[in-house]
Amino acid sequence: MSAGSRHPDVWRAIDAQPTAAKLADTLEVRGRTPAQVRVRRRFLRFVPIRTGDRVLEVGCGTGVVLRDLMALAGRRGEVTGLDASRTMLERARALARSAAGAPLRLRHGDASELPFAGGRFDAALAVTVILHVRDPLRVVQELARVTRAGGRVALQDQDFGLVGAAHPDRALTDRILDGVAARIYEEPCSGRRLPALLREAGLEQVRVLADVYQDTALSDFSRAFLERRAENAVRFGIVDAPTAQRWLEGFNEYVARGAFVLTMNYFGAVGVKLARRP
Ligand SMILES: C[S@@+](CC[C@H](N)C(=O)[O-])C[C@H]1O[C@@H](n2cnc3c(N)ncnc32)[C@H](O)[C@@H]1O
Repeated sequence: MSAGSRHPDVWRAIDAQPTAAKLADTLEVRGRTPAQVRVRRRFLRFVPIRTGDRVLEVGCGTGVVLRDLMALAGRRGEVTGLDASRTMLERARALARSAAGAPLRLRHGDASELPFAGGRFDAALAVTVILHVRDPLRVVQELARVTRAGGRVALQDQDFGLVGAAHPDRALTDRILDGVAARIYEEPCSGRRLPALLREAGLEQVRVLADVYQDTALSDFSRAFLERRAENAVRFGIVDAPTAQRWLEGFNEYVARGAFVLTMNYFGAVGVKLARRP
């Protein structure tokens, strides 16, 4: 068993997880949730991705973002997806078959050691990936290396320090949400740190777009998110199983009363790779 597969963050070594196929399903559920579609597409417009662009997405997963990028880059563009998981890449290949737009290339690899020549892309992106990697700066430096002078490096991440959940037991909610995020991620507040990372990697003209996923109806995505947090809270010994179950039921009670609210902050940050001055 590799060190990656023992890490509490399952997204670091998906192929080592018995639940790999289920994890792929969760990305597609998230990808088609209307409030998530809005957050993602607003970020892609902010980057922006233009017709004819050669675009790289690292940590592409099942290709939710890739399929949007194909449409935006168009037939004269070129889209490349890279992921460390072969399960994800197989799913991405199958799902992109019927997608229109730019030709798609998929590569297996590690975002901290990209198998591409320098200056190869007009734009390089990592969407909900920086949160999961061991060395975020190294990944952003690699994104900058493979981007041409004048091109854009764009990052988007959740910020798990900014999750708002209405629930009858607020103290328990904080204990579970904060406790689980602190045990899984080295930097649970990854989103707000993205602009600093871009600057540290030498990118300039950094712009930030904060956005909020908002749900008042308990979408399948929100339900899966809360269930995973409850499971992990038990796994990490934060609460016992009956308490985790009671916590989940509290959300159902709020849904029934029309009082359910879940928000999750997303931060987007884009920097430009300027040509080296003499
Ligand atoms: C949460 S998913 C995001 C997928 C996609 N970007 C999206 O938004 O739907 C994170 C992805 O990053 C990949 N990943 C994690 N660490 C990686 C690394 N070091 N190099 C390449 N991919 C990595 C995982 O395999 C997974 O597919």
